[in-house]
Amino acid sequence: MLVEHSPGTDGLQRLSPPWPFSFVATLKAARRSLMAKVDAAADLARSPDRVLLVDAILPALGGEGGRVLFVGVRAYTQGYPAILEAGGGECWTLDRDPRAERYGVGERHVTADVRCVGEVWPAARFNAVVGNGLFGFGLNTRSQQADALAAMAVVLRVGGRLVLGWNTSRASERAVESLTTPLFDARPLNGLPVRVVAAGTDHAYGFFAKRGG
Ligand SMILES: C[S@@+](CC[C@H](N)C(=O)[O-])C[C@H]1O[C@@H](n2cnc3c(N)ncnc32)[C@H](O)[C@@H]1O
Repeated sequence: MLVEHSPGTDGLQRLSPPWPFSFVATLKAARRSLMAKVDAAADLARSPDRVLLVDAILPALGGEGGRVLFVGVRAYTQGYPAILEAGGGECWTLDRDPRAERYGVGERHVTADVRCVGEVWPAARFNAVVGNGLFGFGLNTRSQQADALAAMAVVLRVGGRLVLGWNTSRASERAVESLTTPLFDARPLNGLPVRVVAAGTDHAYGFFAKRGG
């Protein structure tokens, strides 16, 4: 199911996804909007990028323990903190949307823009940060993405992990690489290569560690 990612060639941040992924994504979204909520959630849970996240990435991260910040919560992410805490860790959640609070980890959920996390928590508080599905879904410009990555780096300890997930039709490999390189080194996660794309999707995951020390 895993395929290694091949670096893109243009380095451009596209404002609208190119065909075929934009077309496929539009069809999938239309299909989900016609489904009952429960069927739509099941449909999303079956998508290869979600399976990869839930079955491989989150358990690998959770196995390392420590304090983890999961950014961006929706109804379908409610089971993720338990996976991230399975190895004895402590998961915190954050979303800028106040309506998302009910999907976070109770007392350990914060409503804030991820670009301001450095004002919410002291520096070097987290062992890992997970930012999946943010580029193009709130962090839409290169400068917003750069600010968010800089803020995540503040709250991560040196060597702490950053797991990024994004659609390559919304942010190219080269764009993500140039955004992360000043602050992070690429680092494999428990057997997963530094970059993976879920088969049949444009959803990439990148594994990084905060530079410094
Ligand atoms: C597409 S969903 C992704 C949810 C989840 N992270 C996942 O793995 O699927 C985007 C979520 O990120 C939140 N979000 C977008 N921009 C944000 C920002 N700048 N700061 C905090 N949360 C943000 C949105 O409110 C929404 O709940």
